[in-house]
Amino acid sequence: MEKLIVHGGAALKGRVNISGSKNSSLPILAATLLTKDTCTIRRVPDLSDTNYMVRILGELGAEVERASGVVVVKAEKIKSVAPYDLVRKMRASICVLGPLTGRLKKCVVSLPGGCVIGDRPVDLHLKGLEALGAVITVDGGDISVNAKKGFKGGPMNLMGKHGSTVLGTDNVMMAATLAKGTTIIEGAAAEPEVEDLANFLIKMGAKIEGAGTNRITIEGVKELHGAEHTVIPDRIEAGTFLCAGAMIGEGITLKRVMPEHMKSITDVLKKCGFPIEIGKDSISIAPNPLAKGFDLTTLCYPGFPTDMQAQFCALACAISDVSTITETIFPQRFMHIAEMKRMGANIDLQSATARIRGGQRIKGAPVMASDLRASAALVLAGLIAEGRTDVNRLYHIDRGYEHLDDKLAGLGAQLERVKE
Ligand code: EPZ
Repeated sequence: MEKLIVHGGAALKGRVNISGSKNSSLPILAATLLTKDTCTIRRVPDLSDTNYMVRILGELGAEVERASGVVVVKAEKIKSVAPYDLVRKMRASICVLGPLTGRLKKCVVSLPGGCVIGDRPVDLHLKGLEALGAVITVDGGDISVNAKKGFKGGPMNLMGKHGSTVLGTDNVMMAATLAKGTTIIEGAAAEPEVEDLANFLIKMGAKIEGAGTNRITIEGVKELHGAEHTVIPDRIEAGTFLCAGAMIGEGITLKRVMPEHMKSITDVLKKCGFPIEIGKDSISIAPNPLAKGFDLTTLCYPGFPTDMQAQFCALACAISDVSTITETIFPQRFMHIAEMKRMGANIDLQSATARIRGGQRIKGAPVMASDLRASAALVLAGLIAEGRTDVNRLYHIDRGYEHLDDKLAGLGAQLERVKE
């Protein structure tokens, strides 16, 4: 296992290129199963999660070639059973459910386990596929989906008690592209990554309207053909770097971003008083010693994203004020708080609300990464801490950030990756 040693206090400055979106790449790679033709996907980030998805496609029988950020898939003959040993390692592999059943009229995928950010149910995925006529059984940790006569389009509402479901919307949308008739998904997730998937499916010949809103209409077609697509930039990686640039140094510029996907994040940073400049595909930010605290609640898109909650807890430690952040999507998603408190952060957690009094210098310490975003938040905390912070279990970061340590080092951070 590896760890990242972060030496606090180094000033950040300069420019950083943002990679393609992990959360767009995963469902788009799964969607290549919907056609026997060749698909070319560009700007796929080099992460363990995308590598897992590439391996799953291969194990399902697709021919897959990967050359740096370009993945070429030809899923001519595919199997209907997803490999357990791979699927169990990555929850997002649930998004092969829709395309496999859409294409083969049946599939078996193992039930994804929970993870540290909380229980990860798939009831809404199954509700949506059943609304399309699938017969579903869950037995021995496996989900078996059957739609012998193919899917039949119909109306449904996928809103759950914590809001809409991103991958649930993806799964049902993918399955509905090959259904007979029209499908209407109310309560659909409106995230940019859902819209990016829809744009890829439309290039494949799917008939979809309303992606990026909470109501998506899909007119089924007989088959889909191959297509080429470039994945949108990763708004969560970009938001993570905006936090870093606001916390320490002389200011940084992010390149290859889509600022229109990050309004909820940049609006908060502007309100705090951080100097931000927004270009067509770039955003610049710098620290402000007089920045004000924030009061945030995580919501479904276009609200403030849950995937930025941990990073903003780290940012709050650098603001000489009180900030609060309430988590409504994954109420247990606070594994980073205990670790930050070990660094001396002044944080009070009451049910799903963290209250952070920032401004006092935090101290470096050995800390334990837990989930992807919590781990990135600990690296951010290490950037401003006094002394050395060892972020253990670095594999969590490598799951979802393309070369985060190299990119931070390129901005002047003092850090090194070593064997634990
Ligand atoms: C996607 O996960 C993202 N992952 C997550 O990012 C992100 O945190 C999440 O959406 C919310 O934005 C990918 O896109 C690969 P959900 P997903 O279904 O689709 C509940 C990261 O850090 N729910 O939108 O699995 C669920 O428990 C990752 O990059 C049900 O109740 O999340 C949660 O409370 C972490 N029943 C809420 O809905 C279901 O059937 C949102 O979950 C499905 C979900």
